Amino acid sequence: MYQFDVDTGGKAELYRDLAAAADALTAGEADAVANMANLSALLWQYLPDLNWAGFYRTVGDELVLGPFQGRAACIRIPWGRGVCGTAAASGETQVVADVHAFPGHIACDAASRSELVVPVIAGGRVVAVIDLDSPSPARFDAQDAAGVEALAALVAERVA
Ligand code: SME
Repeated sequence: MYQFDVDTGGKAELYRDLAAAADALTAGEADAVANMANLSALLWQYLPDLNWAGFYRTVGDELVLGPFQGRAACIRIPWGRGVCGTAAASGETQVVADVHAFPGHIACDAASRSELVVPVIAGGRVVAVIDLDSPSPARFDAQDAAGVEALAALVAERVA
């Protein structure tokens, strides 16, 4: 059993503790699927107001669904398509306040209103993206982006 002491009082504390928990969960484990599965569970448990949290992995020239929490989702996303494909192709975090205003947004769950997608970069290439969806508009801000980016950097080699 894993038990983590995560301070959910403020975003800075939340992401600091989440990173520590993610490090403890994945350190010394070489299996990428197991690590992505546990990281999805961690994000889902501690980040409030989400309806989807998980990974898409780079396979050839597309993203393929990885471990996640939430409703069943679209399996393959071409590089450059949707919020996830845009993050993967550009290598840049996408913070989308209103998914309906994002050209080419791919709706996997009709409840999603805002989205944060962070590329996971290992060995100089985008090996996956972390995708978080919320039913609330403008759920994610720069602090969320920075927090998930730090987490992605920490675990990149362990999910590649
Ligand atoms: N909305 C994403 C697709 C993945 S689901 O949100 C889980 C996108 O536009 O890439």
